[in-house]
Amino acid sequence: MSKSRCCVKCVFGTFLYISIVLVLVFIIAFVIVPVVFKYSIGIQRSIIFPTWIISPKNYSDIEKFKIKGVRNFYLDVPRDGDISDNITLGLWQILPQDFLGDFIANDEYNYEGALADKNYKVLLYLHGNGQDRSASLDLYDILRWYFLIVAVDYRGYGDSSKAELTETAIVEDIVYVYKWLKNQTNSKIYVWGHSLGTGVATHLISNLKAENISSNGLILETPFTSVTDVMQEHPVMAFYSFLPWFWTTMIEPIKYNDFDFDSKKYILNVDNPIMILHAKDDDIISYHFATQLYNIAVNNRNDTYQGNVTYHLFESRGYMHMYLYKAPELPEYVREFLEDCDKFDNRNQ
Ligand SMILES: *[C@@H]1O[C@H](CO)[C@@H](O)[C@H](O)[C@H]1NC(C)=O
Ligand SMILES: *[C@@H]1O[C@H](CO)[C@@H](O)[C@H](O)[C@H]1NC(C)=O
Ligand SMILES: *[C@@H]1O[C@H](CO)[C@@H](O)[C@H](O)[C@H]1NC(C)=O
Ligand SMILES: *[C@@H]1O[C@H](CO)[C@@H](O)[C@H](O)[C@H]1NC(C)=O
Ligand SMILES: *[C@@H]1O[C@H](CO)[C@@H](O)[C@H](O)[C@H]1NC(C)=O
Ligand SMILES: *[C@@H]1O[C@H](CO)[C@@H](O)[C@H](O)[C@H]1NC(C)=O
Repeated sequence: MSKSRCCVKCVFGTFLYISIVLVLVFIIAFVIVPVVFKYSIGIQRSIIFPTWIISPKNYSDIEKFKIKGVRNFYLDVPRDGDISDNITLGLWQILPQDFLGDFIANDEYNYEGALADKNYKVLLYLHGNGQDRSASLDLYDILRWYFLIVAVDYRGYGDSSKAELTETAIVEDIVYVYKWLKNQTNSKIYVWGHSLGTGVATHLISNLKAENISSNGLILETPFTSVTDVMQEHPVMAFYSFLPWFWTTMIEPIKYNDFDFDSKKYILNVDNPIMILHAKDDDIISYHFATQLYNIAVNNRNDTYQGNVTYHLFESRGYMHMYLYKAPELPEYVREFLEDCDKFDNRNQ
C-alpha cells in the first residue's frame, strides 16, 4: 500500500469521525437536551426554585442570626382549602426598631400584641428563589425603622413543608398568609418582593383584588416581566433560540407547567402605589426588565384610582442583584413612598 493512499484514507477516516462526533454533539445538545427539558418538570422546577442550594438552619435559634427582636413561628395553611391536609409555613416576625429595648430579651414578650399595634405599618416580605426568610438581615435592619416585618418561607423553602412548587400553589399559600395577617392587625399592610418574590407579590395583590381585599403599597426590588422573558435573554439560551423547536421545547413548558410569574398581566390589577427598585449592574435580572414592567404599569394603569408608580434605577455602584440595601438613598426612598401611599389612601377614603 502506498503512503499517499493511506493518507487519503486517514483524512477521510478522520473527517468521517469528526462528522459523526459533531452530529452526535448536535443531536445531544440541540435535540436531546431540549426534549428532556420539555418533558422534565423536575428539571424546570429545580432551576426556577433551587431550594437545594439553601443550607438547613434552625430558624428558632434567633441569636445565631445576630438579629434581635425576632419571633420564629409557624402557620398552618390548608392545602387546596382542605384543613385536614395542612401545609406548614415558617415565618419570622421582626419588630420595629422602636420596640427594641431591654425587654426584648424576654421570651414572654407579647409579639401578637405588637402585631396588633395600629401605630405600626406591617410589611409582608417575600424572598427570592434561592433564598429563605433569613437571607435579608441587612435589609430588615433598614426596613424595621418603618415597618413591623413579617417574612415567610414559601412551601419547600427553609423549614416550611415540602410540597409541590408551582406559581399558583405559592401564591395561594401567601394569599392565606395575607388574610391571616389582616386578621391579626388593623394596620396598613405593604408587600415587598425581591426578585422571584416580585412575581409572587404582584400575583398575590391581583388575587386579593379579586376577593376585594386591598393592600396599601407594593415594593418591587429587582423585578422582572416574566420567567420566560428572562429565560429568552439568558446567555445560555442564545445557543438555543435559533432552533425551530426552541419555543415548544423550552419556553412553552415553563408557561403550561405554571412557572412563568407573568407580572406584566398581574401588575395591571394592583390598585395601590408601586415602587420599583433596580440597579444598572444587576447581572442576574437586567434592569431592562424593570424598565419594561414600569412602562407597562405606567401606560396601562390609571394613577387616579390605582396609585402612581415610582421607579428608582441605581447607577452601577456594586449593588447588583443582592445589595440594594447598601444604597444610602434607600431609607429616603422608602419614606417618600410611604408618604405617597398615605396621600393615596387619604384621597381614596
Ligand atoms: C433550635 O434552636 C432553639 C433555640 O435555641 C432550641 O431550643 C432548639 O432545641 C433548636 N432545635 C434543634 C433541632 O436544634
Ligand atoms: C390545619 O390548620 C387549620 C388552621 O389553619 C386548623 O384549624 C386545623 O386544625 C389544621 N388541621 C390539622 C390536621 O392540623
Ligand atoms: C380571618 O377571620 C375570619 C373571621 O373571624 C375567619 O372566618 C377566617 O377564617 C380568618 N382567616 C384566616 C386566614 O385566619
Ligand atoms: C367585590 O365587590 C364587588 C363590588 O362591590 C362585588 O360586586 C363583588 O361581588 C365582590 N366580590 C367578592 C368576591 O366579594
Ligand atoms: C382614571 O380613573 C378616573 C376615576 O375612575 C377617571 O375619572 C379617569 O377618566 C380615568 N383616567 C383614564 C386616563 O382612564
Ligand atoms: C403620586 O400620587 C400622589 C398622591 O396619590 C401625588 O401627590 C403625587 O404628585 C403623584 N406623583 C406623581 C409623579 O404623579
